[in-house]
Amino acid sequence: SLASSIQNFHFDNVLMNASGVHCMTTQELDELYASPAGSFVTKSGTPNARVGNPEPRYHQLELGSINSMGLPNNGIDYYLDYALDFQAKHPDHPIFLSVSGMSPSDYTLLAEKIQASDFNGLTEFNLSCPNVPGKPQIAYDFDTTEQILTDLFKIFTKPAGVKLPPFFDLAQFDQMAALLNRFPLTFINSINSLGNGLMIDPATDTALIRPKGGFGGIGGAYAKPIALANVRAFRQRLRDDIAIIGTGGVTTGRDVYDLILCGADMVQLGTVLQVEGVACFDRLNHELEAVMAEKGYTTLDDFRGKLQTI
Ligand code: DHB
Repeated sequence: SLASSIQNFHFDNVLMNASGVHCMTTQELDELYASPAGSFVTKSGTPNARVGNPEPRYHQLELGSINSMGLPNNGIDYYLDYALDFQAKHPDHPIFLSVSGMSPSDYTLLAEKIQASDFNGLTEFNLSCPNVPGKPQIAYDFDTTEQILTDLFKIFTKPAGVKLPPFFDLAQFDQMAALLNRFPLTFINSINSLGNGLMIDPATDTALIRPKGGFGGIGGAYAKPIALANVRAFRQRLRDDIAIIGTGGVTTGRDVYDLILCGADMVQLGTVLQVEGVACFDRLNHELEAVMAEKGYTTLDDFRGKLQTI
């Protein structure tokens, strides 16, 4: 079995899209449901719809991708309406609603709206968008993160998680985990893209994307060791009842296996889904099953979190 759970939410397998990939429109979301993905998440909805940054704003290279989309999305009402309609039709298929703000008050507004609705799935509060010009990645500012979570959990009682940026210092893991452990979080999602990388076209000596002078979030194979370290570091520090969604650097079933070995309860696909489309879910589930069969494992609990060290 490839089944996994977060609290009382049950999934046939761990694979889902990462927010931002294949989840902008109702058509794309319906395609995720029709695919073998165990669940899916919406594009981050903001209080109002946004067109995002000027194009070109995404580029693919052999080892991964760079993007500076700038949060183009149809607005929270669009995604909340979709989620409410979806849960009425598919009560046994829990999904994730991603939301993102530009300021602490945006998060309160988004939380109030979801709290007041009948939404009964999981809400992912995105604290790590690197691509809105002039706006820092919120979760690199621990004081603002604390303020947002304090305000949020005064009003929000539904299952909630946070999407985090990558951290690179053990003191950051200690401090962020201690902060997160003070709140009734259901999950974290680690990691968002490696913020503000730069890719260059060698033929023209030009940055490959237009926004922010070419700076953008890096995903794909480049991100794998950072994602593994972040999932592992948080699993070693967070309360046992906080689940971890592992995101970053998956191109093979072995990559999915490695994230679970570090403690992931679900695994999200960004660049590989952008490149291959929904066909990657079936491929990666089969590749994961093959790795498990070779090891003699029959469930994810046989190896989740059981990374060995020397
Ligand atoms: C975008 C990118 C992100 O990494 C994110 O978390 C949210 C939004 C974007 O550019 O649209």
